[in-house]
Amino acid sequence: MKPLDIVIFGGAGDLSLRKLLPALYYATRDGHVPKGSRILCVSRTKYEHEVFLDLVKDKLQALLTGVFDEKVWKQFRQHLLYQDIDLGDTTSWQKLVDFLGLPEDRTADFGREIVYYLSVPPALFQPVCEQLKAQDLNPTYSRLVVEKPLGESLESAKSLNKVLSSTFPETQIYRIDHYLGKEAVQNLFALRFSNRLIEATWNRDHIQSVEITVAETVGLEGRAEYLDRTGVLRDMVQSHLLQLVCCIAMNTPLSIDPDDIRDEKVRVLKALQPITADNVAEHVVRGQYGVGELDGEKVPSYLSEVMRSGKVLDGTGETYVALKLKINTDRWQGVPFYVRTGKRLPSRYAQVIVRFKPVLRNLFETEQHNTLVIEVQPNLGITLNMFMKQVMSDGPGLIPHRQEMDLGESLPEDIKADSAGEYRFPSAYEKLLIDVIKGNQTYFVRDDEIFAAWKWIDGVRAAWAEAELPMQNYSAGGKGPGAADALLEHPSHAWSDVKGAA
Ligand code: BG6
Repeated sequence: MKPLDIVIFGGAGDLSLRKLLPALYYATRDGHVPKGSRILCVSRTKYEHEVFLDLVKDKLQALLTGVFDEKVWKQFRQHLLYQDIDLGDTTSWQKLVDFLGLPEDRTADFGREIVYYLSVPPALFQPVCEQLKAQDLNPTYSRLVVEKPLGESLESAKSLNKVLSSTFPETQIYRIDHYLGKEAVQNLFALRFSNRLIEATWNRDHIQSVEITVAETVGLEGRAEYLDRTGVLRDMVQSHLLQLVCCIAMNTPLSIDPDDIRDEKVRVLKALQPITADNVAEHVVRGQYGVGELDGEKVPSYLSEVMRSGKVLDGTGETYVALKLKINTDRWQGVPFYVRTGKRLPSRYAQVIVRFKPVLRNLFETEQHNTLVIEVQPNLGITLNMFMKQVMSDGPGLIPHRQEMDLGESLPEDIKADSAGEYRFPSAYEKLLIDVIKGNQTYFVRDDEIFAAWKWIDGVRAAWAEAELPMQNYSAGGKGPGAADALLEHPSHAWSDVKGAA
């Protein structure tokens, strides 16, 4: 593989230090960063080279307690460079031009590849892209990686995308949704498309409902301004939860080619039944947390957190949303997808539950449903609940008894033991960065996916504004608004218990 120049704009920022550099440290250890590659962290602050290296080392040591390895660090630090550049000052860009040293003829073979990672606020996407173009730093062997938020509505997503696509063609743009880097999410493709048993029953004839939960314990975490404006519908559902819905609901792609996979995801997004002012109350519940208790600690209400943030905000962001989605395709006609996410819930976890219909003619007294539970985080796991004959100690009898079949974790072959001897899964960022290095767009979101998701989300927002959908209150540390139960179509569709809720 050709050596790379990985340029991280915002390279001294929080995301870079907490996620990207640790991911690249492991990627280096595992041989995914080609020899002779350079990782250039760019930001406005002036740091001496050694001072920056010390900063990164301290951060890695703090994050990788007990497993930080001096040998790996020695290898990693050889790639690491720092450059202060004022992104708003065109003359400052000369430093990057000099660093890269591209051939005069940009079509000539450079012998290296370039990755630009925009780990900066969206307001800087435009000036950075404009400069990359103006300085002719966007040859065919370069790639651009961008982080969410990718717009806050269809309109803003389109204008943001215009900026990106006027500098790089779609084949060179990698839009990160870190949920697509999670092991369990990637495993859905293997689970669904290589098991006849699953694929044959993965439709409206056999599945009664699907439930997706992403629960968080965190509150505003210093992001009051952004979260109060976007709420979790735009922060979480537009991206992570709709991507989960796509991976569960998509049809079998023509091949595992990234565009074939993304074509099928777009079809799901386009088939989402629109939410209107007339039906919003049957499909959506939104809420905000009030005072409560989490892990034995008192937690203030959302509104007082907003007030304490010192910013002038209107306090209208929702911190919880539950939705009933319908997907108008042959495969899913009529099957409800119950989707919920919330902040300040009693525990942090993400999981998908697929509930199958009961057998056509039930011979027994109680109705049984098979369920497939896919745990996304914090633990990985797949459990299939089946019914078996109960062994009777007091004579003959035939009573079906629920058994959990643990399908376990599928450890990837290339998983490495840490120096402490512990096995570890590569983080979502690590996997996604390795894909960028290898030029594989499978787990990156294409422009039309972003647009289709925003179109649907804009519809939900317009509907709840028009219908004045109430903001439900729930206690921090509790299970979320009870009103979410009103979305259920049938008593057997009950939401699963929120983990950790009293
Ligand atoms: C981010 C959201 O994209 O995902 C955050 O902006 C959220 O608000 C985070 O907390 C959740 O990610 P994870 O991986 O911790 O579930």
